[in-house]
Amino acid sequence: DSIDLQEIYQFAIQLAKDAGRLILEGSSKRTQSAATTQDPDTKKNRVDLVTETDQAVEAFIKRSIADKYPSFKFIGEESFAGGERVDLTDEPTFIVDPIDGTTNFVHAIDFVCCSIGFTFKQEPVIGVIYNPFLDKLYSALQGHGAYLNQTTRLPLTHPNPPPLPSLGDAVIGVEWGSDRSKAVIEKKGRTYMKLAADGKDVEGGVMAHSLRSIGSAALNYSMVAAGQLDLYWEIGCWSWDVCAGTIIAHEAGGKVYGKGGKPWHPQDLMGHHFFVVRAIADTPGGETGEQAQDRIAKEFFQVAEEWDV
Ligand code: IPD
Repeated sequence: DSIDLQEIYQFAIQLAKDAGRLILEGSSKRTQSAATTQDPDTKKNRVDLVTETDQAVEAFIKRSIADKYPSFKFIGEESFAGGERVDLTDEPTFIVDPIDGTTNFVHAIDFVCCSIGFTFKQEPVIGVIYNPFLDKLYSALQGHGAYLNQTTRLPLTHPNPPPLPSLGDAVIGVEWGSDRSKAVIEKKGRTYMKLAADGKDVEGGVMAHSLRSIGSAALNYSMVAAGQLDLYWEIGCWSWDVCAGTIIAHEAGGKVYGKGGKPWHPQDLMGHHFFVVRAIADTPGGETGEQAQDRIAKEFFQVAEEWDV
């Protein structure tokens, strides 16, 4: 039961590029017709958007995979929304979000991508994230590093990622997500306030360099892999949002964590708690990059308020 990971990797890259073309076509139709006739059907609630393009792109990707690799499993956002349930097993499995950043897509904001992840024996081993609007392709194959547009090694500072002295020096990726209940929004809001606030005025204030909310979990992982974001935290997204990003960030020297900053376990992919810290260089004679990542994670979870999904 051996599989050719290199071949699957090249296939996934081509698939993401083809999907990107469909996303661009969908967007030109969108701008020609009034936004209201685009009719983003809602899923969970009024802010959990899906468009015809999400569904068409997922159908295309699913069909292409089934043609080439009929025995492989498939987990996709729109198939799940349609009622399909697939567990994460040892079987070769594609985990796909046809459009991550659907709200951006609907509002014509350029942070939109197709995210194609692939797991084998439960581990994410291939990831391809393609933003067709900016023509940026992030990809990784386990053990072979992570790349931007297949040529530029990630992080962009490779092989010398800068230090990260404290959480206060970080630019932190966060998201608003689609759960707008009082309990969740209060916890998020308090966490974001502490991360942003000056500790002189607000108890527990970290005053990080800044927070960013770019609207795509997969692109948050890509930016952590690139070293542009120092870390990213989200509770509430799904395996298809993060599977590709997990291996891309990992191959770029980032460290992914499980719930509450606990060590990562493959089944964490099927949960909803995600946290990743960018690559940090070893300090000569001092802490290793991984110790620095763990220190930042610890600082973060002293501030973050969590909840179950
Ligand atoms: C969403 C985006 C968003 C994140 C949500 C995801 P979608 O995915 O990644 O940034 O906050 O949790 O569901 O709906 O655009 O595919």
